Amino acid sequence: MLEWLLSIIVFIFPAYVANASPVILGGGAPIDGGRNAWDGNRVFGKGKTWRGLIFGILAGAIVGAILAFVVPADLAYGLSFNSRLAAGFLLSAGALAGDLAGSFTKRRFGYKSGQSSMLLDQLPFLAFALLFTLPFHTPTVEEVVFLALLTVGMHVLTNRIAFLLRLKKVPW
Ligand code: CTP
Ligand code: MG
Repeated sequence: MLEWLLSIIVFIFPAYVANASPVILGGGAPIDGGRNAWDGNRVFGKGKTWRGLIFGILAGAIVGAILAFVVPADLAYGLSFNSRLAAGFLLSAGALAGDLAGSFTKRRFGYKSGQSSMLLDQLPFLAFALLFTLPFHTPTVEEVVFLALLTVGMHVLTNRIAFLLRLKKVPW
């Protein structure tokens, strides 16, 4: 049970880092270049920037590489060092692709950038991260349910902390 828990938390960790780090490392030019979609709302919005995308992926991949060095193989689904490097990168790229997909969907529903949407803020990044790493680890139903609950919980908690630290303007 403990091994199950530690393995899945260690596995997903780079995706969390990738998703959270743009709050600090992001900003600047928006990925959509300020353009609107067919519905007159922004494609992704001002909160999705190139800097956040690039540094978010880098931060997640670097943390994944550190974990590949320090975490024993029996807590890494028996993956080789190289596979774990690749998985760390793919989890991070997936997290930020999913984050973009979530913002794209929020804009289509008319939510403004930064406006809270309980599930679209949290589940797309997790889903894409897991999809991108399917070749390395196919999660069980129990793992997916656990990660969904953990992610929603962590998201609420970390955004509240970022708000209290004045890193974010709103507590979600
Ligand atoms: N961020 C960024 N680039 C990204 C993702 C995030 O620069 N690709 C930064 C932005 O400063 C953003 C902050 O991280 O405001 C928080 O990210 P998030 O909550 O995902 O974006 P929101 O501003 O809430 O916008 P949205 O409504 O699209 O989720
Ligand atoms: Mg947000």
